[in-house]
Amino acid sequence: MYSEHVHIMDHPLVAHKLSILRDKNTSTKDFREIVSEIGMLMTYEATRNLPLTTREIETPICRATVPTLDGKKFAVVPILRAGLGLVDGVLRIVPSARVGHIGLYRNEETLEPVKYFCKMPKDVTDRDILIVDPMLATGGSADAAIGFMKEYGCKNIKLMVLLAAPKGIERIVKHHPDVDLYCGAVDDHLNEHGYIVPGLGDAGDRIFGTK
Ligand code: PRP
Ligand code: URA
Repeated sequence: MYSEHVHIMDHPLVAHKLSILRDKNTSTKDFREIVSEIGMLMTYEATRNLPLTTREIETPICRATVPTLDGKKFAVVPILRAGLGLVDGVLRIVPSARVGHIGLYRNEETLEPVKYFCKMPKDVTDRDILIVDPMLATGGSADAAIGFMKEYGCKNIKLMVLLAAPKGIERIVKHHPDVDLYCGAVDDHLNEHGYIVPGLGDAGDRIFGTK
């Protein structure tokens, strides 16, 4: 166990759908749809502790006091590009969420992230933040994205990834011990190019069909 803040999905639907993503013969269309589906399933888990309040309603039978979401503000922040593939799944579960974007790419030699874009909702510091990216490899991109949201003044930050390498998890736990991390699965290691093994390849290229 890495830390109480690391949550590894333990659900047959997530495992099954990830196996389809891993298959190199899966089409771009299916890949994109399944990334979105897993995003939806994982959001269910990542929102487990959203606060509830109550309200009075009338059922067809009687008056009742029923639970309802406290209306806490929420923002999903995809790390471009590949994180975009998860946004739709999150919004299907939390339709009122705002969306902020952070553009980062990995320098292929140093594997360190380079920032090229940022646009946040104007009240982002009042919101709970869910950063999404399919891949947590060295952890450089997610580490930088979390650091950036903290610099902005955001306090309650979660990170959701489909596949993680142990190295990436260790980096996030070390640099951001306050952040809850949700992983669809944890793979074995990184290869010499910083790709997750066995992994699913380049998530951005597979979502957008760019290779
Ligand atoms: C991929 C992925 C992550 C990052 C993970 O993005 O979507 O953002 O790599 O690697 P790391 O943990 O070692 O930082 P990439 O740089 O390939 O850009 P893309 O989304 O535009 O394809
Ligand atoms: N980025 C990807 O898209 N895939 C990996 O395996 C590692 C980083």
